Amino acid sequence: MTESVLQTAHINELSSVERREIEAECGHYPQRSAAAIEGLKIIQNHRGWVSDSSIQALARFLDMPCGELEGVATFYNLIFRRPVGKHVIMLCDSVCCWVKGSDNLRQHLCNRLGIQPGQTTEDDLFTLLPIVCLGDCDRAPTLMIDGKQHGHMTAEKVDQLLHQLEPSYQQEESSDG
Ligand code: FES
Repeated sequence: MTESVLQTAHINELSSVERREIEAECGHYPQRSAAAIEGLKIIQNHRGWVSDSSIQALARFLDMPCGELEGVATFYNLIFRRPVGKHVIMLCDSVCCWVKGSDNLRQHLCNRLGIQPGQTTEDDLFTLLPIVCLGDCDRAPTLMIDGKQHGHMTAEKVDQLLHQLEPSYQQEESSDG
């Protein structure tokens, strides 16, 4: 068939590496479907996010209904169902962090990145997402970047983290004037 059809077929399949890693997870459970979350994580690890066609391929591989796997992927908020940037910032917007100033952090991040929550920067470096309680309330306000949690956050610490991840994101100069 045409090249585009072949490409689509390829996208719908799991790679041999993905299959091997997911098969290893299946070995830990009596039912293949129990490896759903691990399978989703493995796909995300390789592809950056989990598309509809990836869901279909994984459902086939795990021998489970596509709708059921879709439900797992939707419920688990660390699985991305849309393309994301190189770094994903997840800012907690639950009550403890809100009391401790997460609104100000969100505004600061929006200003620094030039995006709103749910969006990705034009250079595809950062995606900003809201998330419910990260279970780190003692260190509120809290955020997670690329799976690593950071507590007691301030605007200055946010700037430092952005700069460490991508040196082109210079810290803001103090605005005295
Ligand atoms: S409310 Fe933010 S970590 Fe719990």
